Amino acid sequence: MDTAHRCFLILVALFVLLFGVTSSQPYEEFLQCLEFHDSNITSIVYTRANSSFSSLLESSIRNPRFDTSATPKPSLIVTPRQISHIQSTIRCSRAHRIQIRVRSGGHDYEGLSYSTISPSLTFLVLDLRNLRAIQVDVPSNTAWAQAGATLGELYYAIAAESRTLAFPAGMWPTVGLGGHISGGGYGSLLRKHGIAADNVVDAQVVDLEGRILDRASMGEDLFWAIRGGGGNTFGIVVAWKLSLVSVPPTVTLFTVSRTAQHKGIELFHRWQHVVDKLPDDLIVMASLSRDNGTILASFDSMFLGKTDSLLPLLEQRFPELGVSRSDCIEMSWIQSILYSADFPINGSLEVLLNRSITISKTGRFKAKSDYVQTPIPEAELEKILERFSEVEDGAISFEIMPHGGKMSRIPESSVPYPHRAGNIYKIQYYMYWYTGGEEAAERNIGWIRELYDFMEPYVSKNPRGAYMNSRDLDLGMNDAVSVGGGGESAYERASIWGMKYFKNNFDRLVRVKTAVDPEDFFRNEQSIPPVPDAFQADE
Ligand SMILES: Cc1cc2nc3c(=O)[nH]c(=O)nc-3n(C[C@H](O)[C@H](O)[C@H](O)COP(=O)(O)OP(=O)(O)OC[C@H]3O[C@@H](n4cnc5c(N)ncnc54)[C@H](O)[C@@H]3O)c2cc1C
Ligand SMILES: *[C@@H]1O[C@H](CO)[C@@H](O)[C@H](O)[C@H]1NC(C)=O
Ligand SMILES: *[C@@H]1O[C@H](CO)[C@@H](O)[C@H](O)[C@H]1NC(C)=O
Ligand SMILES: *[C@@H]1O[C@H](CO)[C@@H](O)[C@H](O)[C@H]1NC(C)=O
Ligand SMILES: *[C@@H]1O[C@H](CO)[C@@H](O)[C@H](O)[C@H]1NC(C)=O
Ligand SMILES: *[C@@H]1O[C@H](CO)[C@@H](O)[C@H](O)[C@H]1NC(C)=O
Repeated sequence: MDTAHRCFLILVALFVLLFGVTSSQPYEEFLQCLEFHDSNITSIVYTRANSSFSSLLESSIRNPRFDTSATPKPSLIVTPRQISHIQSTIRCSRAHRIQIRVRSGGHDYEGLSYSTISPSLTFLVLDLRNLRAIQVDVPSNTAWAQAGATLGELYYAIAAESRTLAFPAGMWPTVGLGGHISGGGYGSLLRKHGIAADNVVDAQVVDLEGRILDRASMGEDLFWAIRGGGGNTFGIVVAWKLSLVSVPPTVTLFTVSRTAQHKGIELFHRWQHVVDKLPDDLIVMASLSRDNGTILASFDSMFLGKTDSLLPLLEQRFPELGVSRSDCIEMSWIQSILYSADFPINGSLEVLLNRSITISKTGRFKAKSDYVQTPIPEAELEKILERFSEVEDGAISFEIMPHGGKMSRIPESSVPYPHRAGNIYKIQYYMYWYTGGEEAAERNIGWIRELYDFMEPYVSKNPRGAYMNSRDLDLGMNDAVSVGGGGESAYERASIWGMKYFKNNFDRLVRVKTAVDPEDFFRNEQSIPPVPDAFQADE
């Protein structure tokens, strides 16, 4: 063997040794660290070698687009049963440079609570599924709910105590309180009571140093930021204290659908002029979709009262909708949750506790969002809907949430969610498909991106608004970044999507982040960055 050959072999051996060490060591040392902090902790840690690892990971992946063999996966899943487990996980992850992705319900549109766009990142999932206790206190109209609980579990717990109390949050039962409230959170009570984040009165958070904070000890800046400024950014929310709202014993729902041939577009056009000015007790949500070749405008409504009061109101304010007594269904508020999720309203409420139910449109999906401030002219609506027929193997729907009412009376800076007065409605563009691999994904995602470009003239501008909980990693990707002295920084890139999600609240979020997590430990592809040192020096 010549010297060169020998050197080569030694190098190979060294490389194997080094590579082997660096690839396995971070989390082995991490595990030792955990055991050092808590001798009983291994029973809550799942390594990739564990036969339950995949099913645990997949059990709350809500966008199958991120459930493929190519999807980057965590090295470990940690499932805390008590707060000390979260504290130890933070301490050891920090010491061993493992990124944490915290997961509550797993509904993140871009899969950021269990995956990443960086294939080489070493990260763990801190899955809060076992922290889901809920305590409802009827005399004070409040509830403490742990972040790993779902909306269904929360609504069930409230209904078990009272049928005239509710919480104004989203409408799909498996959505997790951790991510949902961290990003805003709304459903059919938003015109009457605002969003979920508007109705949080205290919280329990574990911070960078592993301290357990409540509202008094975290201070008003951090308490403000966690109510909508985005998850996985400021710390780990363990529990929220929620202010419950009163609802009447009977609410009235109706659904009206019209095809394009039957004046569906005309009706939607009219809807835009009416919907944000209706009394707070009435919400008329809308959707535009293409189903089996037919363009459909649907209107889903909830009125906080009885049919007898609703009918004259509609006759006066929105007669074009043509709602008759037979369209109206009276029920309790909790039944309206069953109705919206397509469960029998007279069926058992237990279905709300089922964390494995899946939405009917459960294909792979890509979504985007916009806010509309001026009604879109009918001829323009026709043009937009014509595009729907270009979709080949997927389906598109516009899910449309009116604003106005209480939403217009809450100041933009009250919590990080800024889209208040001046917005008629929010559109969520939802593109989903069931078959095909990468190619189908590329085609459908390409299609929704073009649609988003096409919509630009009709929606809010400077900035073009977007909803944090409709997370969209495209935002800011194609915009030119103004290059400062130090080149394109993470901060400059973030300010593009940050202004869309938070408008002028972005700056305050950056200041809070800089104060509570200057080293940017709690992060993902779209978390608020701390102010870089260069910027700090300028101030
Ligand atoms: C089928 C479906 C229906 C939906 N319906 C609605 C609706 O009606 N109204 C609405 O407003 N939105 C709705 N959404 C969007 C939903 O609100 C967001 O996706 C929300 O972020 C989900 O929260 P999660 O805990 O389920 O998700 P996760 O994926 O677990 O979390 C989302 C983000 O928050 C972070 N996070 C999670 N838990 C914590 C925590 N405890 N502390 C700090 N950060 C945390 C995660 O790391 C991630 O970045 C829906 C989404 C889906 C898929
Ligand atoms: C250790 O964990 C197991 C399983 O969660 C639990 O039953 C047991 O009580 C724990 N023991 C201690 C000492 O905490
Ligand atoms: C998987 O991990 C869990 C939690 O640590 C543990 O209880 C279980 O025994 C492990 N299963 C296997 C097959 O290793
Ligand atoms: C879809 O349209 C086809 C052809 O018009 C029809 O045969 C089929 O029943 C429709 N399917 C649904 C679910 O409406
Ligand atoms: C539900 O039960 C009520 C009261 O028994 C009844 O009037 C109503 O028709 C039922 N609704 C449905 C959809 O079954
Ligand atoms: C929960 O929902 C899933 C999916 O619909 C179903 O298969 C399962 O049986 C349900 N579990 C319970 C306990 O009802």
